[in-house]
Amino acid sequence: MAVYAHDDIDWAERLRSLRMAEALDAEPTRVAARRLLEGLPEAPTIVDVGCGAGGMGVLFAEELAVAGAKFVLVDATEHLLTEARQVVVAAAGDKAIVETVHADVADKGLPDKLPPADLVWASRVVHHLPDQQAALDTLTRLARPGGMVAIAEGGLDFNCLPWDLGIGRPGLEGRLLAGRSEWFAEMRAGLPGAVSMPYGWNTGLQQAGLDAVDSFGVLIHHPSPGPELLREFVIERVSWFADVAGDWLASDDRETVAALLDPANPAFLGARQDLFLLGVKTIHCGRRRE
Ligand SMILES: C[S@@+](CC[C@H](N)C(=O)[O-])C[C@H]1O[C@@H](n2cnc3c(N)ncnc32)[C@H](O)[C@@H]1O
Repeated sequence: MAVYAHDDIDWAERLRSLRMAEALDAEPTRVAARRLLEGLPEAPTIVDVGCGAGGMGVLFAEELAVAGAKFVLVDATEHLLTEARQVVVAAAGDKAIVETVHADVADKGLPDKLPPADLVWASRVVHHLPDQQAALDTLTRLARPGGMVAIAEGGLDFNCLPWDLGIGRPGLEGRLLAGRSEWFAEMRAGLPGAVSMPYGWNTGLQQAGLDAVDSFGVLIHHPSPGPELLREFVIERVSWFADVAGDWLASDDRETVAALLDPANPAFLGARQDLFLLGVKTIHCGRRRE
């Protein structure tokens, strides 16, 4: 089966953005990693599906108490797998062995290619697949009976910009998010074989065969002015939104965005001290029925 992401997004090109998000999320996400490791065997097998740049694998590795774990990193983008492997191997040292598998989560045969997992982790990948319920079913079959499946999906979108930027119409961020939402709906509808999942993630996980389904939030908050990286992240984010949501923006908003992203313009975002990062990741988890 050919291995590819279905969404036409060049994920390899997004490495820098993924790394910045990981760095900004790391400390609150570490608390989630610790929570997910609780109740696992001391030397668990952890499969990270759609591992991206590998940040969660790093946190799991750093939080492991003893040696003997196995990490299996799975992604459809080979370049990201290579990058993820490097950072997870460095973090794990001799505590864990790290394997990579270049694969598509939409491949229903995936469970035959991977060891049964004590924990299956899939962050922000399922919503990119044409049949999300089928992907949840596959993730569930990757867990051993009684094993845990946890996905990061939904939550509250990041807000980063003051409401009144002193240029253009106030409320730009709301319109960028609305445009991104329109793009996302169109992108999903255009995925070959797209199937709707007209219910929430908890229901999807229950239907996939998980018990004790639960959700918890991870608050990500960097108040202004935040670290220098925050400005770079916000510039990258606004630029990505302008790329994908540009068609849904009015022309005055497009002009405002161009000014905000231009280092030579007095309105350049990189010169502001009032950017922030506030959002919530939601993690939904459950255990595969015995
Ligand atoms: C939004 S990124 C999330 C990365 C990481 N899990 C995180 O939360 O930062 C989506 C990741 O899923 C991968 N991906 C997209 N479609 C996939 C597919 N069909 N099978 C496997 N991986 C896929 C991409 O290559 C990318 O690494």
